[in-house]
Amino acid sequence: VEESYIMIKPDGVQRGLVGEIISRFEKKGFKLKGLKLFQCPKDLAEEHYKDLSSKPFFPKLISYITSGPVVCMAWEGVGVVASARKLIGATNPLQAEPGTIRGDLAVQTGRNVVHGSDSPENGTREIALWFKEGELTEWTPVQTPWLVE
Ligand code: GTP
Ligand code: MG
Repeated sequence: VEESYIMIKPDGVQRGLVGEIISRFEKKGFKLKGLKLFQCPKDLAEEHYKDLSSKPFFPKLISYITSGPVVCMAWEGVGVVASARKLIGATNPLQAEPGTIRGDLAVQTGRNVVHGSDSPENGTREIALWFKEGELTEWTPVQTPWLVE
């Protein structure tokens, strides 16, 4: 089954948006498999965003992501990767549609409150990167037959 790594960035934690953001994925009907509050070390932030290492904003991005605790989440479900990206909205919050997390809750690209994996392959890669074995839980929500026919 498809999985996505979703992370509430330090601004989302500092601004008290953790419950609001988790709630959107929960209400949509995805299954939470892993959840932790975590102070991200610099080397992990650099590995996570390695594809952006040549960008001029890379040093700012790394200091942003390591500036305070993040909330790491593993979510599973049919089409979760693309759906989560839609729920999150465009990278630049000023271009994100109202109703999306960034559209409703943020104003700047450098403070866009949440991360979502951009492909199923990266979803699995990022979950393995951010979670240790034993930190993920397999379970069956009672609502499953009411969500998936
Ligand atoms: P993520 O879900 O965090 O990966 O965002 P994204 O997939 O919408 O965007 P992308 O992967 O291209 O960029 C990763 C993150 O780098 C963005 O979410 C921003 O936090 C940051 N970023 C991207 N472009 C810029 C930029 O031009 N300036 C600044 N300051 N940050 C940027
Ligand atoms: Mg990205």
